[in-house]
Amino acid sequence: MTIIKNICCIGAGYVGGPTCAVIAYKCPDIKVTIVDVNPTRIAAWNSNKLPIYEPGLDKVVFERRNKNLFFSTNVDEAIQQADLIFVSVNTPTKKSGIGAGRAADLAYVESATRRIAQVAKSSKIVVEKSTVPCRTAQSMRTILEANATKEIHFDILSNPEFLAEGTAIQDLLTPDRVLIGALQTPEGMKAQQALADIYMHWVPKDKVITTNLWSSELSKLAANAMLAQRISSVNALSAICEATGADVDEVAYACGRDSRLGSKFLKASVGFGGSCFQKDILNLVYLSEELNLPEVASYWHQVVVMNEYQKKRFVRNIIRTLFNTITNKKIAVFGFAFKKDTGDTRESAAITLIKDFIQEQAHVAIYDPKVDDEQILMDLSDSGGVVDTRPQVEKHVQICRSAYEAAQDADCVVIVTEWDEFRDDRLDYGKIYAGMHKPAFLFDGRLLVNESKLRKMGFKVNIIGKTELAGTA
Ligand code: NAD
Ligand code: UGA
Repeated sequence: MTIIKNICCIGAGYVGGPTCAVIAYKCPDIKVTIVDVNPTRIAAWNSNKLPIYEPGLDKVVFERRNKNLFFSTNVDEAIQQADLIFVSVNTPTKKSGIGAGRAADLAYVESATRRIAQVAKSSKIVVEKSTVPCRTAQSMRTILEANATKEIHFDILSNPEFLAEGTAIQDLLTPDRVLIGALQTPEGMKAQQALADIYMHWVPKDKVITTNLWSSELSKLAANAMLAQRISSVNALSAICEATGADVDEVAYACGRDSRLGSKFLKASVGFGGSCFQKDILNLVYLSEELNLPEVASYWHQVVVMNEYQKKRFVRNIIRTLFNTITNKKIAVFGFAFKKDTGDTRESAAITLIKDFIQEQAHVAIYDPKVDDEQILMDLSDSGGVVDTRPQVEKHVQICRSAYEAAQDADCVVIVTEWDEFRDDRLDYGKIYAGMHKPAFLFDGRLLVNESKLRKMGFKVNIIGKTELAGTA
């Protein structure tokens, strides 16, 4: 029986930080060191303002930091001291070369693996925590085994992470399941058990699933693809609802009451964002193409196509409704993060929408409770390095300290992120209406507000998946 006393996590990001902080919190007898090559990020983890916003994270970190939880840039030392190493580095979509725009860029996984191979002085269990294409563990094994000796042995496990941002701590404390894949050899299964034992400090045994390595790797991509597919399905239906008078909330509710379908992930929206859904589906598409399965590739690709369509459809609807022009009009955007309760903006629908508004020469006033001003300006200026769009962005964009400030003198309000503070029982929409140009338009991309209540106030309300045809004969 292998007992783990010392864990290293390579990558102090949205996954490595919270995941390993929770392990330290639940296993006070295990020393957990989270390392990163980014010194600014590590300094923030060691400060009072953690580098990511996540409800409940502060409590977990502050309780264990410098007791059995450490953040460091000394990658080599942490590797050497560890019995078990999580590789939790980023795996973005490749920007150039073969598979650009689809395949996962595995350069960070490879460099972390090579580092382990280079500096390890004793046997290690190496755990793939990052989301990776199926059979990546094979490449990691080849690198590690090329450096193994009689005394140093490496076991590789796949332990994908299923947390969602905004609920990460809750997801980690009470996961639906923990998945651990291993080679089905005696050593592989022993390592699998050692990791399972760590989780079983707080996760019930029946929630710890063990599989072979490749099933584990593929299950992660599959789960994200299926979740995103549900959103694209309901968003496709939202377009039909708008054209017919059906109400997408009612349709989703009626479908979700079927226990075979379930009610979650059926909320129509302006399109899914976040660092992973698009990236992981494109990764699955690329994998299918590489396996010479073009029909499978195009099936999954359609989920991303529908998501892009939903964002463009929303923008077109806004322009059409505002009398076919938004040039020089002021648009107040409520929310910039890709979902509520996070400051993360990666692939946020807000970025696509606002870039389109700027292209139309509109003035855009943005308010988000958690996203930094500089992050907003950087995201909107990012043109893939092709041209410097920053001056144009600064000319058209105003970043505000409240929803009221953003909506002052605006022609239209657009709800992009479903922050609770934008709900109509929290925000004084009467005050917002009073400050706006008339007619005052409101576009709700999140099904957050009560349309009849706002219509009564005088707003021209436009909600995704709903139309004024609803309720008509
Ligand atoms: P992130 O970009 O927030 O963090 C990754 C960190 O790894 C960065 O701080 C980077 O500096 C560091 N890093 C890269 N190479 C390194 C190296 N060689 N040595 C040391 N540090 C290195 O990424 P993330 O959001 O935490 O995602 C990590 C992985 O987890 C990805 O594969 C992602 O798909 C997956 N995932 C993410 C989420 C999520 O909610 N963000 C959820 C589940 C799975
Ligand atoms: C998602 C998955 O939910 C996690 O299980 C997974 O671990 C993670 O990706 C990952 O691999 O990174 P996350 O992207 O953090 O988590 O957040 P989600 O709650 O899944 O939301 C993703 C996007 O879909 C958001 O923009 C959200 O607003 C949108 N969404 C979600 C909808 O539009 N409708 C819904 O019904 C649900």
